[in-house]
Amino acid sequence: AKEQYHEFVVQEAAVTRLCRKHIITTVNGQFPGPALEVSEGDALIVRVINRGSYSVTVHWHGVRQMRTGWSDGPEYVTQCPIRPGQSYTYRFTVAAQEGTLWWHAHSSWLRATVHGALIIRPRAGVPYPFNAGKPPAREIPILLGEWWDMNPIDVVRTATRTGAAPNISDALTVNGQPGDLYRCSSKDTTTFQVKSGETNLLRFTNAALNTELFVSLAGHTMTVVAADASYTKPYATSVLMIAPGQTTDVLVTFDQPPARYYLAARAYASAQGVPFDNTTTTAIFDYYSSSSSSRPAIMPTLPAYNDTATATAFTTSLRGLRKAELPSSVDENLFFTVGVGLFNCSAGQNQNCGGPNNTRFAASINNVSFVLPSTLSILQAHYGGAGAAGVFSADFPSTPPVQFDYTAQNVSRALWQPVPGTKVYRLRYGAAVQVVLQGTNIFAAENHPIHLHGYDFYILGEGFGNFNAATDTGKLNLEDPPMRNTVGVPVNGWAVIRFVADNPGVWLMHCHLDVHITWGLAMAFLVEDGVGEMQSLEAPPPDLPLC
Ligand code: C2O
Repeated sequence: AKEQYHEFVVQEAAVTRLCRKHIITTVNGQFPGPALEVSEGDALIVRVINRGSYSVTVHWHGVRQMRTGWSDGPEYVTQCPIRPGQSYTYRFTVAAQEGTLWWHAHSSWLRATVHGALIIRPRAGVPYPFNAGKPPAREIPILLGEWWDMNPIDVVRTATRTGAAPNISDALTVNGQPGDLYRCSSKDTTTFQVKSGETNLLRFTNAALNTELFVSLAGHTMTVVAADASYTKPYATSVLMIAPGQTTDVLVTFDQPPARYYLAARAYASAQGVPFDNTTTTAIFDYYSSSSSSRPAIMPTLPAYNDTATATAFTTSLRGLRKAELPSSVDENLFFTVGVGLFNCSAGQNQNCGGPNNTRFAASINNVSFVLPSTLSILQAHYGGAGAAGVFSADFPSTPPVQFDYTAQNVSRALWQPVPGTKVYRLRYGAAVQVVLQGTNIFAAENHPIHLHGYDFYILGEGFGNFNAATDTGKLNLEDPPMRNTVGVPVNGWAVIRFVADNPGVWLMHCHLDVHITWGLAMAFLVEDGVGEMQSLEAPPPDLPLC
């Protein structure tokens, strides 16, 4: 195993998309940011130097961060933000994970432009568990994202000023380019040259802020081999559904008649009556060696934006490659509702109705709308002991305050207006934890991609309607469930996850739609390995930023 050192300089750069130039926040002037490539077992040391004009942190999405909680990155959870002019060095090892992960800013909406791929290959001498053990002829990282004709920070600021929901994006992107179906975009369309007969590994990440995506490649079958840096049984499909935060690795054999084939991605918008980006982003896979951009490319058929059946069929078809190593019994049985509510403003009033950040909207888990601390991160407060008082409380509820029919709109007013708070749920070190994530239909029914920091979890099952312990428990997959770090909780439905709390620290769990984080759809687990303390966590690094 090697040790790699990188410098990430956060800086503004002028970038033109859709014929308009914008100053955006980048890492090293690149959009998307630099890809990190490691072998399993490598250590990464990344010095983040903030020369931009906003405070920022960087999160290594999906990295287990075993006993390196100070390097996880969510602002005010494990560290205070790195202010302009300051720097902070993240140190961690990428172990027991292979596939694709990514890194992104974990401050406001900066991750719209501050993100990049993290590619993890098997260590020397260890074969890939697919393609007969041979490395694929070529590996292609593909970051799917969004573009705003506005600074993403201002998108949120405008929303909080008016109390409304933030704007939807102006374009979806493939590796930073909207593609040739948009005005002013054709000459910059991302193009991949392919060789007839070759098998390539496409490493997809959905880095979009608020858009779940269907992805297809015209004329070609994709065989899924990994998701969220855990291998899956090979699954052949013509369409992927990737939620924000998730990654999916697929093998493609270029065995079709020479032509130009579109890769296309478009929103899966599970919510009814909620505006979404209804455009399509494209890239081109080109069999011709000389550029022949005059030849029209072949377009795939994408599912309709509201095709929940296809989205769910895809996610529930994934199986872990190996037999699950599940604890035989569960120590903590948690039931968390996840949903968005709307504060009851008086007529014409859009602001100061009590929602987080001045909006009308509030999202919650178990009716608690998460509020970030401002003076100290939760991890610092806990580590320092005395500082904990007033920064957070350890009384996050294990069940919602009221049981009701989560799929019907018969909800009491009290549940439209969650209680704001900085609450964590304390887990005993080593506890086997099961969480039923139940979507609610309080304001709008929607698929919520729920991401847990510091852990991978098994997804034992998902379904529609209310989770019914008596009838659904027996149907859970304890044999070969997929292991992921982000699970799409189906619209008007539920998902069950299980993990062992073997990593001391403070670990955020939240919806990876940034608009829902803004509204408070988050909570954190506090895992200690001593009584009231984290014995195996080193003292805070000397350069840890202060608030
Ligand atoms: Cu990818 Cu808390 O985030």
